[in-house]
Amino acid sequence: MKTVTLSTLQASKRAGETFSCLTAYDASFAHVASQAGIEVLLVGDSLGMVLQGHASTLPVTLDDICYHTRSVARAKGTSLLMADLPFMSNASQERLLQDAGALMRAGAEMIKIEGEAWLADGIRELTRRGVPVCAHMGLTPQTVYQLGGYKVQGRDAVRAEQMIADAHELVAAGASVILLECVPASLGRAMREALDVPVIGIGAGPDVDGQILVMHDVLGVSLGRTPRFVKNFLAEADSIENAFRAYHEAVKARHFPAAEHSF
Ligand code: KIV
Ligand code: NA
Repeated sequence: MKTVTLSTLQASKRAGETFSCLTAYDASFAHVASQAGIEVLLVGDSLGMVLQGHASTLPVTLDDICYHTRSVARAKGTSLLMADLPFMSNASQERLLQDAGALMRAGAEMIKIEGEAWLADGIRELTRRGVPVCAHMGLTPQTVYQLGGYKVQGRDAVRAEQMIADAHELVAAGASVILLECVPASLGRAMREALDVPVIGIGAGPDVDGQILVMHDVLGVSLGRTPRFVKNFLAEADSIENAFRAYHEAVKARHFPAAEHSF
């Protein structure tokens, strides 16, 4: 695989193709995922749940994400490496820039941040300084206690329109990618059509520009209840690499997500 860059993702969208993304937290699994063709590796703050056993992503620190980003960076191969800004990194503009800088120095090539239109100023400052930003919208796990649980977002038309308007504002501020979590498939499609930048979905239906899953869900080893939008690809594969490859190929062929994984 040629080295994946932001341009690769943009070209994929223009060609009407899809790309695959998967979380990674260490060198060994990152290597296998990259070998399997996964285009984007995300060091997600989901590590607080799947690695550390917390009930949410809130306890994850910047140092935690930097540690795992350094590990993944050493074995990421040709995949693009994205890393999450943890809870409260946006407490001030100053902190946002410092924390994003730390992630980039740890090896991230793009940073992901949760929020809506109010993030625009922060995104403008980051992109001005050469930090590519993915804005994570819809179900944003860092606000789970405000949302009242892990629930589908943007179900009513007014809310969906507002989310599209907010996404436009974030793209105007410089966001390079939008990630949509847990929204109706119709909103996923509307976002892909409305925006010039790639839209990555998780539980956002099949009609987006890229798909992402948490690695532990793909391997069927997650703790607790698994959401409707995940699929265990190891169940029908004879190795972890082949499970990752089956996921990658299912995304490329738009066989995943199917109707049963969508809202
Ligand atoms: O932390 C994470 O793994 C994520 C993905 C689920 C998108 O943010
Ligand atoms: Na995350």
